[in-house]
Amino acid sequence: MPTFTGEEAQNYDSRITKLVPGYELLHQLSSAQLLALYPDDATILIVGAGTGKEVVELAKLNHTWRFIAQDVSADMLEIADQYFTKLKINSRVQLHYGALSPSAYQVDAVLCLLVMHFVKDNGDKARLFKQMSEQLKPNGHLFIADLEKPVTPFERDAQLIACKQLGLSEKGEQHMRVNLEHEFFPVDKIRLAELLDAAGFGVAKPYFKALGFSGVVATKK
Ligand SMILES: C[S@@+](CC[C@H](N)C(=O)[O-])C[C@H]1O[C@@H](n2cnc3c(N)ncnc32)[C@H](O)[C@@H]1O
Repeated sequence: MPTFTGEEAQNYDSRITKLVPGYELLHQLSSAQLLALYPDDATILIVGAGTGKEVVELAKLNHTWRFIAQDVSADMLEIADQYFTKLKINSRVQLHYGALSPSAYQVDAVLCLLVMHFVKDNGDKARLFKQMSEQLKPNGHLFIADLEKPVTPFERDAQLIACKQLGLSEKGEQHMRVNLEHEFFPVDKIRLAELLDAAGFGVAKPYFKALGFSGVVATKK
């Protein structure tokens, strides 16, 4: 997977909008769902918070929400922290570097956007789903969006065409084509349902789809 350190962290914000068609919409729709669910106080855990996009969007929508921004890249979290300080929202955000220990938090909702496709389905995905479930209150919601297995033989090609339309260079496209094949570990809907069920979640309800990227919400049983 990309390392999300050094230069890769520094240029993440300018790169990601060219690599994920619908990136802004995914964040907008995830935020809208959370506002519909939690109009008042809520604590929201962002798993794989990266440079802080989720927190920045959510903090604008509701001034009472509090956040835990978790990531395994210190460089990404450092950039996020700089944004939080600049926007004066840092008092509402707890940074969490590294893996989540069992039941470290009891939150209302977990957001995990564009992360799970980097995690291998060799027990690692199951572990991360379980860790997220453990941090949620009963009936809490998990919003998860990532790359899924292609549903048509031409979907990945269409995705790369869309990336070029978004400004991705020829070299970037070649790099992404290789990465899509070797650096991502997408699952299909059936496997996703199995992973969610094993971690104690109910049936996933779709809320986002843009070519290979799809988002679902699931409730902790
Ligand atoms: C593509 S970025 C997404 C960042 C942010 N969610 C967004 O939408 O812009 C993926 C992030 O997931 C983090 N990541 C990768 N594996 C992870 C794991 N097992 N647990 C938590 N974060 C992880 C990476 O360090 C990186 O910051």
